[in-house]
Amino acid sequence: MMSLKKVFCLLLFVAGASAIECPAGYEVVGSKCIHRLHDSYLTHNDAVAYCYQNFGRLPVLPDCASFIGVATYVDNGCLCAVPYDLVGTQCVHLLPTSYNFTDARTACGSTGGDLIILDDCEQYSRVIKYLMEQGYSPFGYWIGGSDEALEGQWRWIDGSPMAMGLPYWSNEGEEDPEPDNPGVENCLELSSQWMYRFSNTLCSNSRRVICEAQPL
Ligand SMILES: *[C@@H]1O[C@H](CO)[C@@H](O)[C@H](O)[C@H]1NC(C)=O
Repeated sequence: MMSLKKVFCLLLFVAGASAIECPAGYEVVGSKCIHRLHDSYLTHNDAVAYCYQNFGRLPVLPDCASFIGVATYVDNGCLCAVPYDLVGTQCVHLLPTSYNFTDARTACGSTGGDLIILDDCEQYSRVIKYLMEQGYSPFGYWIGGSDEALEGQWRWIDGSPMAMGLPYWSNEGEEDPEPDNPGVENCLELSSQWMYRFSNTLCSNSRRVICEAQPL
Protein backbone atom coordinates (compact mmCIF):
# COMPACT_ATOMS: atom_id res chain seq x y z
CA MET A 1 0.00 0.00 0.00
CA MET A 2 1.08 3.54 -0.61
CA SER A 3 2.05 5.33 2.55
CA LEU A 4 2.15 8.91 1.32
CA LYS A 5 -0.57 10.38 3.39
CA LYS A 6 -0.22 13.81 4.75
CA VAL A 7 -2.39 15.99 6.92
CA PHE A 8 -2.39 19.68 6.29
CA CYS A 9 -3.19 22.37 8.68
CA LEU A 10 -3.87 25.48 6.71
CA LEU A 11 -4.24 28.58 8.77
CA LEU A 12 -6.30 31.26 7.31
CA PHE A 13 -6.48 34.95 7.85
CA VAL A 14 -8.90 36.89 5.81
CA ALA A 15 -6.60 39.67 4.77
CA GLY A 16 -7.59 43.25 4.25
CA ALA A 17 -8.98 44.27 0.91
CA SER A 18 -6.01 46.13 -0.55
CA ALA A 19 -2.38 45.56 0.43
CA ILE A 20 -2.01 42.10 1.90
CA GLU A 21 0.53 41.65 4.60
CA CYS A 22 0.73 38.34 6.32
CA PRO A 23 2.13 37.72 9.78
CA ALA A 24 5.41 35.82 10.15
CA GLY A 25 5.03 32.21 9.11
CA TYR A 26 2.16 32.97 6.74
CA GLU A 27 2.24 33.31 2.98
CA VAL A 28 -0.03 35.34 0.76
CA VAL A 29 -2.26 33.04 -1.28
CA GLY A 30 -4.73 35.02 -3.32
CA SER A 31 -6.53 37.22 -0.84
CA LYS A 32 -5.62 35.05 2.13
CA CYS A 33 -2.71 34.34 4.40
CA ILE A 34 -1.89 30.68 4.62
CA HIS A 35 0.36 28.75 6.91
CA ARG A 36 1.02 25.10 6.33
CA LEU A 37 2.24 22.79 9.05
CA HIS A 38 4.96 20.57 7.56
CA ASP A 39 5.84 17.04 8.58
CA SER A 40 3.10 16.57 11.12
CA TYR A 41 -0.04 14.58 11.44
CA LEU A 42 -2.69 16.04 13.69
CA THR A 43 -6.11 15.00 14.81
CA HIS A 44 -8.85 17.42 13.92
CA ASN A 45 -9.07 18.72 17.50
CA ASP A 46 -5.31 19.26 17.66
CA ALA A 47 -5.39 21.00 14.28
CA VAL A 48 -8.09 23.37 15.53
CA ALA A 49 -5.99 24.08 18.63
CA TYR A 50 -2.80 24.52 16.63
CA CYS A 51 -4.41 27.02 14.29
CA TYR A 52 -5.95 28.89 17.22
CA GLN A 53 -2.57 29.13 18.96
CA ASN A 54 -1.17 30.60 15.76
CA PHE A 55 -3.89 33.23 15.56
CA GLY A 56 -5.68 31.56 12.64
CA ARG A 57 -8.26 28.92 12.02
CA LEU A 58 -8.69 25.95 9.74
CA PRO A 59 -9.41 27.14 6.22
CA VAL A 60 -12.92 28.04 5.25
CA LEU A 61 -13.22 27.96 1.49
CA PRO A 62 -16.70 29.16 0.73
CA ASP A 63 -16.24 30.09 -2.90
CA CYS A 64 -14.59 28.62 -5.93
CA ALA A 65 -11.86 31.27 -6.20
CA SER A 66 -10.58 30.75 -2.67
CA PHE A 67 -10.81 27.00 -3.03
CA ILE A 68 -8.78 27.02 -6.25
CA GLY A 69 -6.22 29.39 -4.78
CA VAL A 70 -5.59 27.25 -1.74
CA ALA A 71 -5.82 23.93 -3.58
CA THR A 72 -3.29 25.12 -6.14
CA TYR A 73 -0.98 26.26 -3.39
CA VAL A 74 -1.23 22.93 -1.59
CA ASP A 75 -0.92 20.78 -4.70
CA ASN A 76 1.63 22.53 -6.84
CA GLY A 77 3.31 25.31 -5.00
CA CYS A 78 4.00 23.38 -1.91
CA LEU A 79 3.67 19.64 -1.93
CA CYS A 80 6.22 18.63 -4.55
CA ALA A 81 9.68 20.13 -4.98
CA VAL A 82 10.67 21.40 -8.43
CA PRO A 83 10.76 19.70 -10.96
CA TYR A 84 8.19 17.23 -9.57
CA ASP A 85 4.45 17.38 -10.28
CA LEU A 86 1.79 16.07 -7.98
CA VAL A 87 0.03 13.14 -9.66
CA GLY A 88 -2.58 11.70 -7.35
CA THR A 89 -0.69 10.97 -4.14
CA GLN A 90 2.83 10.95 -5.59
CA CYS A 91 5.35 13.56 -6.69
CA VAL A 92 6.29 12.48 -10.21
CA HIS A 93 8.92 13.63 -12.68
CA LEU A 94 9.61 12.23 -16.15
CA LEU A 95 13.22 12.49 -17.17
CA PRO A 96 13.67 13.96 -20.64
CA THR A 97 16.21 11.38 -21.78
CA SER A 98 16.70 7.61 -21.68
CA TYR A 99 18.98 5.59 -19.45
CA ASN A 100 19.66 2.00 -18.52
CA PHE A 101 18.12 0.89 -15.23
CA THR A 102 21.11 1.63 -12.98
CA ASP A 103 21.77 5.01 -14.52
CA ALA A 104 18.04 5.81 -14.34
CA ARG A 105 18.15 5.42 -10.56
CA THR A 106 21.20 7.68 -10.36
CA ALA A 107 19.55 10.26 -12.63
CA CYS A 108 16.39 10.26 -10.49
CA GLY A 109 18.63 10.62 -7.44
CA SER A 110 20.15 13.78 -8.85
CA THR A 111 16.64 15.31 -8.98
CA GLY A 112 15.94 14.32 -5.37
CA GLY A 113 14.03 11.09 -5.98
CA ASP A 114 14.30 7.51 -7.14
CA LEU A 115 12.37 5.32 -9.56
CA ILE A 116 8.65 5.35 -8.90
CA ILE A 117 6.89 2.62 -6.93
CA LEU A 118 3.43 1.75 -8.25
CA ASP A 119 1.87 -0.60 -5.73
CA ASP A 120 -1.59 0.92 -5.54
CA CYS A 121 -3.99 0.30 -8.38
CA GLU A 122 -5.80 3.65 -8.19
CA GLN A 123 -2.53 5.52 -8.17
CA TYR A 124 -1.14 3.34 -10.97
CA SER A 125 -4.05 4.33 -13.19
CA ARG A 126 -3.53 8.02 -12.39
CA VAL A 127 0.11 7.78 -13.38
CA ILE A 128 -0.76 6.02 -16.65
CA LYS A 129 -3.26 8.76 -17.43
CA TYR A 130 -0.54 11.32 -16.75
CA LEU A 131 1.85 9.47 -19.10
CA MET A 132 -0.75 9.44 -21.85
CA GLU A 133 -1.32 13.17 -21.40
CA GLN A 134 2.34 13.81 -22.24
CA GLY A 135 1.46 13.36 -25.90
CA TYR A 136 4.28 11.06 -26.89
CA SER A 137 4.84 7.36 -26.36
CA PRO A 138 8.33 6.19 -25.77
CA PHE A 139 8.88 2.44 -26.03
CA GLY A 140 8.79 2.10 -22.27
CA TYR A 141 9.46 3.73 -18.92
CA TRP A 142 11.58 2.35 -16.10
CA ILE A 143 9.83 2.05 -12.76
CA GLY A 144 11.34 0.94 -9.47
CA GLY A 145 11.17 -2.84 -9.47
CA SER A 146 13.45 -5.77 -10.20
CA ASP A 147 14.21 -9.39 -9.39
CA GLU A 148 17.97 -8.92 -9.63
CA ALA A 149 18.54 -9.80 -5.97
CA LEU A 150 16.73 -13.14 -6.17
CA GLU A 151 15.51 -14.53 -9.47
CA GLY A 152 11.73 -14.71 -9.63
CA GLN A 153 11.23 -12.66 -6.44
CA TRP A 154 10.01 -9.33 -7.78
CA ARG A 155 10.50 -6.52 -5.32
CA TRP A 156 10.15 -2.77 -5.26
CA ILE A 157 13.30 -0.75 -4.67
CA ASP A 158 12.16 -0.11 -1.08
CA GLY A 159 12.37 -3.88 -0.52
CA SER A 160 8.63 -4.52 -0.42
CA PRO A 161 7.26 -7.51 -2.37
CA MET A 162 5.47 -6.83 -5.64
CA ALA A 163 2.01 -8.10 -6.51
CA MET A 164 2.14 -10.41 -9.53
CA GLY A 165 -0.41 -10.99 -12.28
CA LEU A 166 -3.44 -8.88 -13.00
CA PRO A 167 -4.10 -6.01 -13.06
CA TYR A 168 -0.48 -4.88 -13.11
CA TRP A 169 1.45 -7.34 -15.26
CA SER A 170 0.72 -7.68 -18.93
CA ASN A 171 -0.51 -11.07 -20.06
CA GLU A 172 -0.98 -10.02 -23.63
CA GLY A 173 -1.39 -13.07 -25.79
CA GLU A 174 -1.86 -15.31 -22.72
CA GLU A 175 0.75 -17.81 -23.92
CA ASP A 176 3.39 -15.27 -22.96
CA PRO A 177 2.42 -13.63 -19.67
CA GLU A 178 4.89 -11.24 -18.09
CA PRO A 179 7.34 -11.64 -16.46
CA ASP A 180 8.99 -13.85 -19.07
CA ASN A 181 12.58 -14.84 -19.92
CA PRO A 182 13.55 -15.70 -16.31
CA GLY A 183 17.13 -14.96 -15.37
CA VAL A 184 17.62 -12.68 -18.37
CA GLU A 185 15.17 -9.81 -17.99
CA ASN A 186 15.44 -8.58 -14.42
CA CYS A 187 14.18 -5.00 -14.53
CA LEU A 188 10.67 -3.60 -14.61
CA GLU A 189 9.24 -1.29 -17.25
CA LEU A 190 5.87 0.07 -18.20
CA SER A 191 5.64 -0.93 -21.82
CA SER A 192 3.81 1.28 -24.29
CA GLN A 193 3.26 -1.90 -26.33
CA TRP A 194 1.10 -3.26 -23.53
CA MET A 195 -0.90 -0.20 -22.50
CA TYR A 196 1.77 0.73 -19.93
CA ARG A 197 1.31 -2.46 -17.98
CA PHE A 198 4.24 -4.16 -16.26
CA SER A 199 6.80 -5.98 -18.35
CA ASN A 200 10.27 -7.20 -17.48
CA THR A 201 13.19 -6.43 -19.73
CA LEU A 202 16.99 -6.28 -19.85
CA CYS A 203 18.38 -3.89 -17.24
CA SER A 204 20.89 -2.68 -19.83
CA ASN A 205 18.11 -1.46 -22.14
CA SER A 206 17.63 2.24 -22.58
CA ARG A 207 14.25 3.55 -21.44
CA ARG A 208 12.62 6.78 -20.43
CA VAL A 209 12.30 7.16 -16.67
CA ILE A 210 9.58 7.90 -14.11
CA CYS A 211 11.00 9.33 -10.91
CA GLU A 212 9.19 9.72 -7.62
CA ALA A 213 10.12 12.05 -4.76
CA GLN A 214 8.64 12.26 -1.29
CA PRO A 215 6.21 15.14 -0.80
CA LEU A 216 7.66 18.07 1.12
C1 LIG B 1 24.57 1.59 -17.83
O1 LIG B 1 25.19 2.58 -18.62
C2 LIG B 1 26.46 2.98 -18.16
C3 LIG B 1 26.95 4.08 -19.07
O2 LIG B 1 26.16 5.20 -18.94
C4 LIG B 1 27.42 1.80 -18.17
O3 LIG B 1 28.65 2.18 -17.60
C5 LIG B 1 26.82 0.67 -17.34
O4 LIG B 1 27.64 -0.47 -17.47
C6 LIG B 1 25.43 0.35 -17.86
N1 LIG B 1 24.84 -0.67 -16.99
C7 LIG B 1 24.17 -1.71 -17.49
C8 LIG B 1 23.60 -2.67 -16.50
O5 LIG B 1 24.02 -1.88 -18.69
